[in-house]
Amino acid sequence: MLILGIDTSCDDTSASIVENGTKIISNIVSSQNEIHEKYGGIVPELASRRHLEMIWPVVDEALNKAGAGINDISAIAVCHGPGLIGSLLVGVCFAKSLAYVHNIQMVAVNHLEGHIFSSFLEEPIPEFPFIALVVSGGHTSIYKVEGFGMYTELGRTRDDAAGEAFDKVAKLLGLGYPGGPFIDDLSKKGRHDAILFPRPSINNSLDFSFSGLKTSVLNCIRKDPHTKKEDIAASFQSAAVDVLIEKTLKAAENEGLDKIVLTGGVSSNMTLRKMIKKRAQEEKFNVYLLSPPLCTDNAAMIASAGFFRFKQGTAAGLDGKLRCNLDLNPKACMPL
Ligand code: KG4
Ligand code: ZN
Repeated sequence: MLILGIDTSCDDTSASIVENGTKIISNIVSSQNEIHEKYGGIVPELASRRHLEMIWPVVDEALNKAGAGINDISAIAVCHGPGLIGSLLVGVCFAKSLAYVHNIQMVAVNHLEGHIFSSFLEEPIPEFPFIALVVSGGHTSIYKVEGFGMYTELGRTRDDAAGEAFDKVAKLLGLGYPGGPFIDDLSKKGRHDAILFPRPSINNSLDFSFSGLKTSVLNCIRKDPHTKKEDIAASFQSAAVDVLIEKTLKAAENEGLDKIVLTGGVSSNMTLRKMIKKRAQEEKFNVYLLSPPLCTDNAAMIASAGFFRFKQGTAAGLDGKLRCNLDLNPKACMPL
């Protein structure tokens, strides 16, 4: 069964064809980095305009690369939130039109659920139940995943997402956008113990906070503008990674689970991957790390989650709404 996935939740226009929820036939991502780079962050109006220009060519390319026609598709899975309203609107309206014209079923997929189901697109596929850390530019949350549609949020950021902190610190250091990969690179030349940045624990809960860490970096730069950028990058990254790993492992321990999935753009960070692999070896748990194109936003993850939703029989109506602030819990995963 072939599913066409569409994701326009943020600043990437993506379409993908996935077979039976696990095999990627094509996965096209058109990045908007060069548009938003000069602003050091996403400009929502520019993002939605670009989605409008790119949605047709990207869907066409996904079908062509898969050697499929629209009539070979069993269902269209579209991300309906969370995300930027103008951006989501482009993908959802496009999917509805395509579904209506070609009389194809449509399913609505939560973007966060999509990130979790990225892990079903590469071997080894994790078996339920497992812990998932979704760590991106818009989200930082830990979930217990007991089955399809069975998610319990165990912790979340109370302020900035981890990726947002990487982007803001990169901006303070005069690096490019998005900042995560630049910090990742620059850190290789710096000392991770040069500056002791805070590692907020928030009353021993599984919640995160990254805004204080970002402010500490700003104060450090103001106090001594000559501090080496490499050392700041490496020390900041070390603090962020420490907190992400500690909270995720604590969640696994509390729940008695030994499988951990890392997903979202920040999970492509080299230090995070190296450190959690080391802990997995020492502490005997299984960690599932995805290849970088599946960590960042992509439509294959939407098609994968959409396949399982379609099998459940939860098709979406053409009058469904999109939701900018959509949580990931069983209720929020109901059809449009
Ligand atoms: O998942 P994603 O593509 O989009 C959202 O759903 O937000 O994540 C993008 C975020 C950006 O904040 C970017 O700086 C961060 O992921 N990122 C990284 C790395 N690659 C991307 N952060 C740290 N290290 C990286 N290598
Ligand atoms: Zn995302």
